[in-house]
Amino acid sequence: MKKLLDLITEEMESAFEKAGYAGKYARVTLSNRPDLCEYQCNGAMAAAKEYHKAPFLIAGGVAEALEGSDLLEEVQVVNPGFINLKISAGFLSGYLNQMQQEERLGYEKTEKPKTIIIDYGGPNVAKPLHVGHLRSAIIGESIKRITRFAGHKVIGDVHLGDWGLQMGLIIIELRERKPTLVYFDPEYEGEYPAEAPFTISELEEIYPSASARSKEDEAYKEAAMQATFELQQGRRGYQELLKHILNVSVTDLKQNYANLNVEFDLWKGESDVQPYIPAMVQEMADKGYAYKSDGALVVDIKEETDTKEIPPCMLLKSDGASLYTTTDLATIVERMKLYHPDEMIYVVDKRQEMHFVQVFRCARKCGLVTEDTAFRFLGFGTMNGKDGKPFKTREGGVMRLEYLLSDINEEMLKKIRESRPMGEEEAADIAKVVGLSAVKYGDLSNQASKDYVFDVDRFTSSEGNTGPYILYTIVRIKSILKKYEEQGGQADGADILAYENESEKALMRELARFNSVMENACEELAPHKICAYIYDLANAFNKFYHETSILGTEEEAQKKSRIRLLILTRRVLEVCIGLLGFEAPERM
Ligand code: ARG
Repeated sequence: MKKLLDLITEEMESAFEKAGYAGKYARVTLSNRPDLCEYQCNGAMAAAKEYHKAPFLIAGGVAEALEGSDLLEEVQVVNPGFINLKISAGFLSGYLNQMQQEERLGYEKTEKPKTIIIDYGGPNVAKPLHVGHLRSAIIGESIKRITRFAGHKVIGDVHLGDWGLQMGLIIIELRERKPTLVYFDPEYEGEYPAEAPFTISELEEIYPSASARSKEDEAYKEAAMQATFELQQGRRGYQELLKHILNVSVTDLKQNYANLNVEFDLWKGESDVQPYIPAMVQEMADKGYAYKSDGALVVDIKEETDTKEIPPCMLLKSDGASLYTTTDLATIVERMKLYHPDEMIYVVDKRQEMHFVQVFRCARKCGLVTEDTAFRFLGFGTMNGKDGKPFKTREGGVMRLEYLLSDINEEMLKKIRESRPMGEEEAADIAKVVGLSAVKYGDLSNQASKDYVFDVDRFTSSEGNTGPYILYTIVRIKSILKKYEEQGGQADGADILAYENESEKALMRELARFNSVMENACEELAPHKICAYIYDLANAFNKFYHETSILGTEEEAQKKSRIRLLILTRRVLEVCIGLLGFEAPERM
């Protein structure tokens, strides 16, 4: 369906032309003075220059040409030449009637579907998920859903961090604890056991203690580096251990992400792309892009227009070891080979921006991608505690994700129990669903690049701009619809009629914005625009609800129309929260 604003603009275009002026002056915007009018067109002022005529006269001519318009109910010319517009009641309800018949609520799939890879999540194997990973997961998942809904082919890749020193640390710590394991015997040539020599909780304890020890014990750290090197060189026993670490870790990660309603299409990691590195680096050197500098292999990526220093991109250290950058470049090679993406989007902490500037430039310069492959870095800000500092535990450590989520759940459970009497199990189920909305909405309602304060109290409140408020609104609609049904009501196929009061009109106008909000949110990869929209929509609905007795509507056709309006509101809200990555319970 065409966007409402475009339809109004088209109507204005023909009016400008009918009045003898160019259609290009007819641009219409939402009014910035909603108290005075709904839409406005300021084109007469610009046209005045071309036609050497007073803007007021031009506007007057256009207004005349609009007489009898089905689309506009009121056209007002205001000094010096503003044209203020009000949409007609019949046209607005007609628009919503079409919308309610469309499965996608009038938002059309893109005519140019792209293949997009979204790199998000980025957890590090064997290290527990912490709050820093939360934002990537939440934002990335929403971007994936939004772009997919727009009709693109979207592949979400978790891009595991499974290739660093942490692997060597785990290996030597394990060797200290269980030296007789066959993985450590370099002579061993037989089969390795299928079962991992540790559980996930052991693994999660092994890494932090190894990491702590490596900071104090030089020899220990040396050993870990050596083990990492041998692993990367392909030492058999270590490779087998890596497989176990991955298996145990990934099973646990999948569970964690499932609790967050986050799902990846690919579970690839840094280790998967190591085989691409030698040929890639060789080619970069052969083509003359990569050269030796102080023993290291680097590619220059400075550009003339740079206003700040962009250091060369390092491919190999002087000892021949590859780096985070090298792995990301090799990942691009693999992605191009296997999936031919038109676009790669990275949802990563904005502090890594320079790394990605280097990777993208280097990939482009060395021809790893085609000219029209797009890269987008979606850097997000830090999640802070109430003190404005990065979120920490009470003891000052890194906050583990599961603790943070259980804090929210607990608070939610308390609030749910206070709201009405219900069984323990029901309360727990609802708290889980609503708690997730609190976390996700609390995050997504901020522009991703900004830092924000994680405020359990505010996020879990059912009032204000929060996830629970949106869910309350949906549940309220569901319960009215249920009551209507219980009273024997039936509004299938009924039309939405012209509004009868201002709050009904305001709700209708919000609903009609749906496709334009979706388009904009997708173009800008901006879930916060969807949040802002559903907050406005929920407010408009609640105002309407408080001012109008929906089930008490006397006239039968009007009552049905209002029921249809409720159904449409529920559908729009549900689609939107689905794109944000959470859902609504039946009751609250
Ligand atoms: N594992 C990394 C970290 O925890 C994030 C990975 C981001 N993605 C990427 N392609 N480099 O910081």
